[in-house]
Amino acid sequence: MTGWLSALERLADSRAKAGLTRRLRPRPAADPVVDLAGNDYLGLSTHPAVIAASAQALSRYGLGATGSRLVRGSTEAHSSLEAALADFLGTPAALVFSSGYLANLAAIRGAAAVCDLVVSDAYNHASLIDGCKMAGRPTIVAPHNDPAAVAAILAEHPGRRALVVTESVFSVDGDLAPLAELHEVTAAHGALLLIDDAHALGILGPSGAGGVTAAGLAGRSDVIVTATLSKSLGGAGGVVAGPPPFIRHLIETGRTFIYDTALPPSVVAGVHEALRITRSADDRRALLTARGAQVAAALSVHRPVAGVLSIVAPGPEAAVTWAADCRDQGVAVGCFRPPSTPDGSSRLRLTLNAGVSDEAFNHALSVIVECAP
Ligand SMILES: Cc1ncc(COP(=O)(O)O)c(C=O)c1O
Repeated sequence: MTGWLSALERLADSRAKAGLTRRLRPRPAADPVVDLAGNDYLGLSTHPAVIAASAQALSRYGLGATGSRLVRGSTEAHSSLEAALADFLGTPAALVFSSGYLANLAAIRGAAAVCDLVVSDAYNHASLIDGCKMAGRPTIVAPHNDPAAVAAILAEHPGRRALVVTESVFSVDGDLAPLAELHEVTAAHGALLLIDDAHALGILGPSGAGGVTAAGLAGRSDVIVTATLSKSLGGAGGVVAGPPPFIRHLIETGRTFIYDTALPPSVVAGVHEALRITRSADDRRALLTARGAQVAAALSVHRPVAGVLSIVAPGPEAAVTWAADCRDQGVAVGCFRPPSTPDGSSRLRLTLNAGVSDEAFNHALSVIVECAP
């Protein structure tokens, strides 16, 4: 009966040999580290107005949503956030999920219901990859950020409606997809384009409306937008935005909407307040741009298009040591190794955070440079 536990230990040993051990570290409430590892790009997770809005909803609605919205009813907090998100993203409708991961699973499966083929960028996030696996349609992985390759794949499948899936700003490397070119390709072949705007929402585009808006694609009937509410908006949850018949399809058939307890109203209200602040947070966005340029100069890497910088390390152990040395000096940075990196490389990943003071940021940057392998 314990044979399976020894088998798990053997798997853990081989991960350890490959430098791929992962460990949980304690995080105190008043975390003293400078956070360049999380995704709180605009520093809104601790904004007093966000906390106040969330606390008020907590006392009105209680801790949890107590069931799915179809079973327990849809609160005013949920519907007003969805209206605000649709307005922000320039889409006619939006639906909130309890995470960005679940939003992606539903969006891909929902769109694939009327498609015969899925084409997925090679560097897509795990939630998009899993969505493709669950879509029940043949999936072709396209070379990263290569509209010509996507065009060639679509041309090889004439008469089949395809769904093309990409991120706007890629989560590991922080590079920007050629969204306008991709849309030209999908439009020419009658395909749908699904864009995960997780790392651009709140940062790119006018008022931070995201990468899809920045590319001039907001509100197109052949474009589906997904995003997490856990990064720039500082909370939790996910959103799918698109034409009303698609949103209706997700409400009626989306397994991760129907069979999942709704996002707690307190989180919904906090995210809604964060969204209000985001729309007028040009000062915070300008700070991210300035800090991106500062890091790029200090580490001789490209300036980030949004808030993610990725620096290749010589190997997984070197990446782990670099991140650990930074942490020992009070600086939290991301460490990405396979299978979290699409190209098998290991990297230090820095995520900019406008909530960090100038003094703490400058200190963090000097620590990162000193600890470099
Ligand atoms: C590109 C991308 N999509 C989706 C997700 C998942 O969002 P969530 O954490 O809300 O599940 C993430 C990361 O968390 C992400 O980086």
